[in-house]
Amino acid sequence: MALPENLVAEFDRMVQKYPQRRAALIPAIHRCQEELGGWVSPETMEALAEYFELEPIEVWGVVSFYPMFRTSKPGAHVVSVCHNISCDLRGAEDIITKVCEVTGAQVGGTSPDGKFTVERVECQGACANAPMFDLDGVYHEDLDDAKVEKILGDLS
Ligand code: FES
Repeated sequence: MALPENLVAEFDRMVQKYPQRRAALIPAIHRCQEELGGWVSPETMEALAEYFELEPIEVWGVVSFYPMFRTSKPGAHVVSVCHNISCDLRGAEDIITKVCEVTGAQVGGTSPDGKFTVERVECQGACANAPMFDLDGVYHEDLDDAKVEKILGDLS
């Protein structure tokens, strides 16, 4: 698999900003995950390795180290629920339970219909409005069961 031309053009500009080509690998992985279905497939890792003149295992090492990178295809919607201290103190565990109930997905998994992936994440910097989750890149804050049902129910 070859990287899409738009990403190659972007990476060509990106690598100019770093003293070593490989230093742009992490932002490039982020862009691949954003553009190529919400995950980093083995084929994408091989293409990145070729572009960055690395061994595929080196790209795998980076992708598998950071929890924000996915190595399996997510559902159509990704619900990332914060479980750090502020959210925890304000009911994150109940929110996670409710999210799983509404979506039909388990934490770290995807619902049988492929519609939702649910994951736990660390602090998202929205502690003042805990508890919160990120749904497809958009924050939803001050959550309670009714809000979770409304937000996710509208997508069902
Ligand atoms: S602890 Fe949840 S946003 Fe900071």
